Amino acid sequence: MKQKVILTKKFGSNEIEILKKKYDLIIVEDEGKTLKDIVKEHYNAAALIPFLSDIVNKEIIDSLKNLKIIANYAVGYNNIDFEYAGETGIFVTNTPDILTNATADLTMALILGVSRRILESDRYMRGGSFTGWGANLLLGKELNGLTMGIIGLGKIGFATAVRAKAFGMKIIYSSRTRKKEIEKQYGFEYRDMDDLIKTSDIISPHIPYSSSVHHMFNKDVFRKMKKDTIFINVSRGGLMDENALADVLEENHLYGAGLDVFENEPVVHKRLTKLENVLMTPHTGSATFKARSGMSKMVINNIEQAFSGDTPDNLIPELKSMLKY
Ligand code: DGY
Repeated sequence: MKQKVILTKKFGSNEIEILKKKYDLIIVEDEGKTLKDIVKEHYNAAALIPFLSDIVNKEIIDSLKNLKIIANYAVGYNNIDFEYAGETGIFVTNTPDILTNATADLTMALILGVSRRILESDRYMRGGSFTGWGANLLLGKELNGLTMGIIGLGKIGFATAVRAKAFGMKIIYSSRTRKKEIEKQYGFEYRDMDDLIKTSDIISPHIPYSSSVHHMFNKDVFRKMKKDTIFINVSRGGLMDENALADVLEENHLYGAGLDVFENEPVVHKRLTKLENVLMTPHTGSATFKARSGMSKMVINNIEQAFSGDTPDNLIPELKSMLKY
């Protein structure tokens, strides 16, 4: 008998076909029911594929009596109670690496979009305001020579730093562990967090979200930033207090913000939507054909490995030590 697999939302059609051939596939969005209802109905499912917007808590995990793996379709996994899953012997996997370049590209797109006022320019053109070339028309910031502060020099942070360096920026970073080899090879400089916040022209966090970093960007931190700093967030909305961000932007303390993630997705803070110097994208950091197809393949591979009794390639680091693999 085919094993039952629950997928919350559809991804690439080729990969959906593969899943359908191999497994008894339940797609939550096609059923018109909540995930909570589906897991009760299909309590014998052996795999769950959630998206980053699906909260997989104890209740969901406990409802699935035969669950072997939660194969998250994202690199971040703060949506899953992974500690509880680990305690109950369930694998939790993610999709690292494959979306690194896509997310770093989008980070640069937001930086360029804010610094060169692309959103305003586009609105200006479409609104029919362009009457001729002007020396003072829509002036922006040049990236060359600016200091880019990266918080978290993991894969995405590093890929962003390399891109920013190619634009002539000085790279400073702050991270739990110092990466001296990278410093030497790439000329990046390590700074403590406070120093980085006070001296960067552009600040971009690339760290996982957890309750310990909730609102790490609050009003005090935003106020410590240099006037005219650009704040970028492609990591998780919970890292920033959106209300405080709206305040400092309205006060013209910051130059602008580029946001791909939001505190209460899909809800976007009303005041942020009113500001011309905020460029927003709908959590599409990994939204390239290449990354998304790679993510689906990784999810399928992780499930196959779990079902055949192997440790999945992309078991999350916390469970590697917890489950002693
Ligand atoms: C992820 O996969 O965690 C990212 O947020 C995608 O942009």
